[in-house]
Amino acid sequence: MPTLVIVGAQWGDEAKGKLVDVLAADASMAVRFAGGNNAGHTVIADGREFKFQLIPSGILHEQVTAVLGAGMVVCPKGLLEELDRTRATAPEIGDLKVSGAAHVVFPYHRLLDTLEEEARGAGKLGTTSRGIGPAYQDKVARQGVRIAELVDPARLRRRLEEVLQAKNRQLSLYGQPLIEIGPLYDEYARYAERIAPMVADTDVLVQDAVRAGERVLFEGAQGTFLDLDSGTYPFVTSSHPTAGGACLGTGIGPRDIDGVLGVCKAYTTRVGAGPFPTELHDEVGEWIRKHGKEYGTVTGRGRRIGWLDLVVLRHACRLNSMSGLVVTRMDILSGFDSVQVATGYRLDGARIGHVPCDTEAFGRAEPEYVTMMGWKGDVRACRRLIDLPAEARAYLDFMEEATETPVAVVSVGPDRDETIVARPELLWPTAALTA
Ligand code: IMP
Repeated sequence: MPTLVIVGAQWGDEAKGKLVDVLAADASMAVRFAGGNNAGHTVIADGREFKFQLIPSGILHEQVTAVLGAGMVVCPKGLLEELDRTRATAPEIGDLKVSGAAHVVFPYHRLLDTLEEEARGAGKLGTTSRGIGPAYQDKVARQGVRIAELVDPARLRRRLEEVLQAKNRQLSLYGQPLIEIGPLYDEYARYAERIAPMVADTDVLVQDAVRAGERVLFEGAQGTFLDLDSGTYPFVTSSHPTAGGACLGTGIGPRDIDGVLGVCKAYTTRVGAGPFPTELHDEVGEWIRKHGKEYGTVTGRGRRIGWLDLVVLRHACRLNSMSGLVVTRMDILSGFDSVQVATGYRLDGARIGHVPCDTEAFGRAEPEYVTMMGWKGDVRACRRLIDLPAEARAYLDFMEEATETPVAVVSVGPDRDETIVARPELLWPTAALTA
């Protein structure tokens, strides 16, 4: 199993960072393929807490080459701050390589993100305000500035001259002051000096590692239903956080992927606007939010909470051709007499078992629940499936059956070792868990 893709199976924030960190202990490369610093990965390693937004969290392992792939949009300031912050706490981190084909996020992208959100009024998407959408808009419109251009001073100035004409036209429609090239160029040229030594043809680096049979981890950000094509459009991010995105965003082909692990919580969360059939608006949701510290890593916003939705999960398994599920936060759901699980929806008088591609219809879907026995007690000490309460095991069995996907890993707490490897054959041998 030398190449593994890790994706979020719901709407992001499924605690992928921990799994990546555990698997990266035995990897030689960790590659991010989509998104930018809209992502927030919290990793607790040896009692220290790290928050990653752009850099693959695999970098915490010295032998890992961390790669920012071509499918990403990179805020240079954010990248350098994150690198400095990480090095200050963990000096012995791996190398970092940045694709020359990744796109640069500029301050005007962040400004436009905020202005576009304000203009949407009641139809706000609830973006992270990191300029992600506007940066991808520029990429698709073929006017984006790529990292290879950022690190070439003459080209950077020329590209900014071109782009700022268009951006200033856009900003003037919003009544905003125009951006002058001088200070922007100076600031970005400074970042470029530090980033230049990290820039590479990362597609070749990744392909070579894959050809050599090295363990390469493709680290997804966000989640399946935030995918631009497969998610709840327009309440999505502007990239492809699904397994297919690992090919598009790094320069490998589908046959180079050996396994896809989909990370999901034992319940469901989402931040930002958009349909969420199993959302809880009562004290149960509030309890899970508080108890599970369900607040955004990037924005600090309280996450929306809901019961586990197996319709969503089954759909995610198919969209990503998932080889295994990784179920997190089983400890947080502990303590209920009973829990609800959605197994289908009622829509316009009929029963459906899939996520409709029309987001408006999805918004009207009403979940049909199965009630299951809850589990009690502290499960954080469990290290084998058999250690879990019988009700928790029944819950996991039910998930497997409904999604036709085996549960590979169960996470019972935030620390590295608070993990149960149910099907080791779906991962590579992980010293971090067997030590
Ligand atoms: P954007 O990616 O900032 O444009 O935000 C678009 C939507 O994706 C919003 O609903 C965000 O809350 C959501 N989103 C973006 N990144 C993440 C993430 O890492 N976790 C969860 N939701 C995210």
